[in-house]
Amino acid sequence: MNRIVTLDEFIIKRQKDFPYASGELTGLLRDIGVAAKIINREVNRAGLVNILGVEGSENQSGDIVQKLDIFSNEVMIECLANSGECCGIASEEDESIIPVNSIAGKDAKYIVVMDPLDGSSNIDVNVSVGTIFGIYRRKSDKKQLVETSDFYQKGDELVASGYVLYGTSTMLVYTTGKGVNGFTLDPSIGEFCLSHRDIQIPAKGNYYSVNQGYYSKFDLEMRRYIDHCADMNYRLRYIGSMVSDIHRILFQGGIFLYPNTRKYPLGKLRLLYECNPMSFIVEQSGGKAFNTKLKRILDEDVHDIHQKCTIAIGSPLMLDEMKQFVEKYQATTAQ
Ligand code: AHG
Ligand code: MN
Ligand code: MN
Repeated sequence: MNRIVTLDEFIIKRQKDFPYASGELTGLLRDIGVAAKIINREVNRAGLVNILGVEGSENQSGDIVQKLDIFSNEVMIECLANSGECCGIASEEDESIIPVNSIAGKDAKYIVVMDPLDGSSNIDVNVSVGTIFGIYRRKSDKKQLVETSDFYQKGDELVASGYVLYGTSTMLVYTTGKGVNGFTLDPSIGEFCLSHRDIQIPAKGNYYSVNQGYYSKFDLEMRRYIDHCADMNYRLRYIGSMVSDIHRILFQGGIFLYPNTRKYPLGKLRLLYECNPMSFIVEQSGGKAFNTKLKRILDEDVHDIHQKCTIAIGSPLMLDEMKQFVEKYQATTAQ
């Protein structure tokens, strides 16, 4: 039998990759792993809530059963705020940043951005969801409360990012800028175990992932590229949780698109806690991530924690091909 390597063990071993590492990042990643296990437990029980009256639900109609995205948000905040290694959090679920007001918190050097539950509408029908996180160094002086401007950092400055996929198995995938590794939760021992070492995205693949329902609202160049994907018999897969859709592409190759529509000029997805962390992972695995104006996502300026951005992300050769379509048809519309 191969020796099992747990997430905690792996993170600690990797600490030596960073010559001046003090163990704070290690601790933070470990705490995120703990939060993921708690969220996983609740996600797994979600389907039972209306049958068993799980603790916290008050009546049969399930009125006060906490929504899982709010629950996940609270679990993540609790784990991060008590870790002593995080001085502030920006979450999809909170309008403003959450400074960590403890002595250890104010003294900590990392901030965390997160989408605690991605694809949350899938929960009601038992379909995969995820958690996304990104870790940055704070810019402002320690001993003070963290500032909103600490979060205005490009994706290129990410120290680490990752996601958890609550799928048929639960997986945690993360990078600290030295490749991407995946861990699968073994429920019998309650540990994330190294299952996918040094993940490399295929250079191209057979999948494209886009909300085809908005097709007529996309710009010409995007419609032409989507037509091309169909002409090539690429397979269309769209789960409605970017974690799940990109996870498939990371392993099997393909392209995920969330373009602008006439109504939503910047699309729907959020730069800070959705597009940047996922782009860091995909780039670290050998892939590419642009906005639909062909600018690298990780080079985008951040000026609002909830700012949106368009995205095209996935296998490098497919991104190159999409780029050619955009260049060709943008030129046509500009004439
Ligand atoms: P969230 O549940 O965190 O709000 O994110 C859902 C996002 C993303 O994961 C997914 O790709 C997209 O919304 C789906 O949007 P459409 O329904 O507009 O396709
Ligand atoms: Mn999301
Ligand atoms: Mn969410």
